Amino acid sequence: MKKISIGGLQVSRIGLGAMSMSAFYDIGTANDAESTRAIHRALDLGVTHIDTAEIYGPYINEELIGQAVKGRRDQVVLATKFGFISHAGGGPGVIDSSPTNIRVAVEGSLKRLGTDYIDLYYQHRVDPNTPIEDTVGALAKLVVEGKIRHIGLSEASPRTIRRAHAVHPITALQTEYSLWTRDPEAELLPLLRELGVGFVPYSPLGHGFLTGEIRSPEQLGDDDWRKTNPRFIGENFQRNLRIVEEVKAVAVEAGATLAQVALAWLLAQGDDIAPIPGTKRVARVEENTAADQLELSAEQINRLNNLTSATGERHSEAGMAAIDR
Ligand SMILES: NC(=O)c1ccc[n+]([C@@H]2O[C@H](COP(=O)([O-])OP(=O)(O)OC[C@H]3O[C@@H](n4cnc5c(N)ncnc54)[C@H](OP(=O)(O)O)[C@@H]3O)[C@@H](O)[C@H]2O)c1
Repeated sequence: MKKISIGGLQVSRIGLGAMSMSAFYDIGTANDAESTRAIHRALDLGVTHIDTAEIYGPYINEELIGQAVKGRRDQVVLATKFGFISHAGGGPGVIDSSPTNIRVAVEGSLKRLGTDYIDLYYQHRVDPNTPIEDTVGALAKLVVEGKIRHIGLSEASPRTIRRAHAVHPITALQTEYSLWTRDPEAELLPLLRELGVGFVPYSPLGHGFLTGEIRSPEQLGDDDWRKTNPRFIGENFQRNLRIVEEVKAVAVEAGATLAQVALAWLLAQGDDIAPIPGTKRVARVEENTAADQLELSAEQINRLNNLTSATGERHSEAGMAAIDR
């Protein structure tokens, strides 16, 4: 697996997103033993970048990762996130990036991950009630104390990134980016390159939609988060299947799977981009990491650049409202 630098931090260019091992998708079907095997297989295949968050579960996803990397901590770049749980009483779902909340959050994450340092610590969502300078100032102190090594932001706007980076270098921005979510290309990617900040695309497989495995909303359980995502609902779902067919045509030609094509296209966007496909299954870890070897032709990339646009916003109204714009 090739390694790249995101803002000065070395990672495998394909990472592993751990969220679906404990939360949001296929609730109740996750199996910790298989998830642990998937993590170990990823490490064996040269994946060094594992992504979690205190809100995943909440908490149990970090515990799972902590257990799985025991004895192999040095092989892993552990990335986690704070700010989606307010420890002052608001609880899960309440955005809070105040310095006091960060202090509580980091101690909890360190404990659950079974480590004395976090490689990459992200603010999960920008907090409209706390100036970003205060948040990054608090994080900079954690860097000095050795509790975290790098600072990241998630779904931050260009203005917020500039302000944050002026306080302390930001290593990576994590934001949704995939074949059906191209928003970061206009402003974010040029800015990140100007500042030397790496980019970690989340949901690089479109929450699984782009793999072609989900052919109908009925395949998703009632409590599956995707049931609230506009792109997975009714007419939109049906229309978006056209994108899957277009990706499939390239996949057949390239002798690859749709997931591999989606990942190879992202990798072709630059060597400062490190996607974190999510899965809780060994076979999919193997499939996804093999995208590292897939070189798409210029003509295939051009076709993928010109897919039918997605129908529906990428998050629900409430989800979009939490995004810094
Ligand atoms: N910063 C943020 O706000 C934010 C938001 C969302 C996600 N994330 C991070 O990004 C990571 C990835 O995003 P994501 O999980 O939302 O979406 P994703 O990576 O686009 O897709 C994951 C979904 O696709 C399925 N899948 C994975 N590989 C597959 C394959 N080869 N063939 C068929 N299906 C496949 C998974 O199912 P199985 O698990 O059953 O294999 C899962 O349901 C998360 O784990 C999390 O760490 C961050």
